Amino acid sequence: SLPPNDDLAAAIRTIPDYPKPGILFRDITTLLGDARAFGRAIDALAEPFAAAGIDKVAGIEARGFIIGGAVAHRLAAGFVPIRKRGKLPHSTVRVAYSLEYGIDEMEMHVDAVRAGERVVLVDDLIATGGTAQGAVTLLRDMGAEIAAAAFVIDLPDLGGADKLRGLGVDVHTLVA
Ligand code: PRP
Ligand code: HPA
Repeated sequence: SLPPNDDLAAAIRTIPDYPKPGILFRDITTLLGDARAFGRAIDALAEPFAAAGIDKVAGIEARGFIIGGAVAHRLAAGFVPIRKRGKLPHSTVRVAYSLEYGIDEMEMHVDAVRAGERVVLVDDLIATGGTAQGAVTLLRDMGAEIAAAAFVIDLPDLGGADKLRGLGVDVHTLVA
């Protein structure tokens, strides 16, 4: 029989030369639009934490909101949005993070997590890990305990999952 995540890999579309020549863009909109694949991805991301006492799922704008909201519901946890600078209305904490080319800033509401809360960080994809590392910094600075970080897709050649593991984060991914 097939390895369990082959159907998830098959549901992800690859777009050559987007957004730049030479990039193979992994497009999850096809997975999201496939009820079985979307359901299986959410179940697989949530399953390791079903009995882990997770208080909050934190999702990274924008695609991490889609995945993270569904995982939060599955775990009966709250949801915390981590957003690009300037989008959150209340007082925030902010961190600069590195992108493939350049830097940006992300924010989280100061009261989004309480010290000691157990949080799972979720995004659609980890590449260089710069985005996830910024989110880990915000959550830890507010005293959250990061139970794990979970991604649908890992691009292992870019090293992000290993970088997060080097920060002491338990990293789960479904498709490489
Ligand atoms: C993509 C992806 C991750 C991040 C991964 O988001 O959804 O959040 O890049 O890259 P990294 O591991 O190298 O940091 P993007 O910045 O394109 O934002 P978007 O979801 O708002 O399009
Ligand atoms: N797909 C989606 N987001 C990304 C990718 C990709 O291939 N690489 C970096 N961010």
